[in-house]
Amino acid sequence: MSTQTTGTIAVLGATGQQGGAVVDALLDHKARVRALVRNPQSDRAQALAARGVELAAIRADDPASLAAALATVEGFYFMTPEANSLEEVEAEIRIGTALVDAAVEAGVPHVVFNSVFGADRESGVPHHDSKHWIEEHLGKSGLRATMVRPTAFMENFASVMAPSLEHGEIVLRLPLPEDVALKMISVRDIGRVAAALLLDTAEAPGGAVELVGDELTGPQIAAAFGARAGLPARYEALPLSVLPNDLDKVMFRQFAEAAEYPSDLAVVRSIEPATLDLVEWIRATGWTAPTNVAGS
Ligand SMILES: NC(=O)c1ccc[n+]([C@@H]2O[C@H](COP(=O)([O-])OP(=O)(O)OC[C@H]3O[C@@H](n4cnc5c(N)ncnc54)[C@H](OP(=O)(O)O)[C@@H]3O)[C@@H](O)[C@H]2O)c1
Repeated sequence: MSTQTTGTIAVLGATGQQGGAVVDALLDHKARVRALVRNPQSDRAQALAARGVELAAIRADDPASLAAALATVEGFYFMTPEANSLEEVEAEIRIGTALVDAAVEAGVPHVVFNSVFGADRESGVPHHDSKHWIEEHLGKSGLRATMVRPTAFMENFASVMAPSLEHGEIVLRLPLPEDVALKMISVRDIGRVAAALLLDTAEAPGGAVELVGDELTGPQIAAAFGARAGLPARYEALPLSVLPNDLDKVMFRQFAEAAEYPSDLAVVRSIEPATLDLVEWIRATGWTAPTNVAGS
């Protein structure tokens, strides 16, 4: 095992979910953090500054700002923003490419790229293949690079994939067949694993790790929420046609395919032994049953 990193770690995405969790974990290890932000005056950036995080103003289309922000850092974590259209996928590739090129220019010793599950195989999911492209670009850059590939965020169960309460029953509906196990990870643990890799207290076998903390079918997920609420629970598998966005349709097809591949759960637990499974995430976040559905 290598010695612990003591230099500054640069984080792009620090004002967001995953990058924010990386910052939390790095600060827990007393690391020095520099957040690369578009607007240092934003409330989120200022909240980071109040916790001792250095702010560097950057623009992805301004290579000089990126190279300056990456000067003298020991490690660099970056994610790429959500893409909901093919235009945004193109923008994601542009941003990722610019970040890799800037890391080369600055001679960053270690880069951790927050990719996505399945990015090692071209999947046909546009906002996954974009990350595959960035991984390839990083691979050819000559930089020491590690890929972290998160599966579905458990946090989605508190937003876009939230179960509902209907007539005294917890109901979960997803466009996923009921016998397919969904791989998932908490955002907290994405941050903890990425931080361990950045601080060189852990290594990813082969330079990449799929981030998974649990694998459960729809009925098992519904049962976990039902048990927490003390209520009966049921799962309804929906057709893909309910999804309004074509990118999401291909992605849910990819969720089903991902279930066929071996899981890196043991690797993740070897890096972060306290990795949350879904029941632990439900408890840790204090999830309570929704109360706002008619008939409940
Ligand atoms: N949801 C899932 O289940 C899931 C699973 C696996 C992978 N993913 C992937 O995770 C990514 C989203 O991650 P997240 O949820 O952590 O994001 P997020 O919370 O939406 O945060 C986005 C971050 O990116 C920064 N940002 C956005 N556009 C930028 C730009 N042009 N230049 C520089 N910084 C920019 C934002 O900073 P500002 O403060 O400047 O806005 C913010 O810090 C997507 O690529 C998605 O495909 C999602």
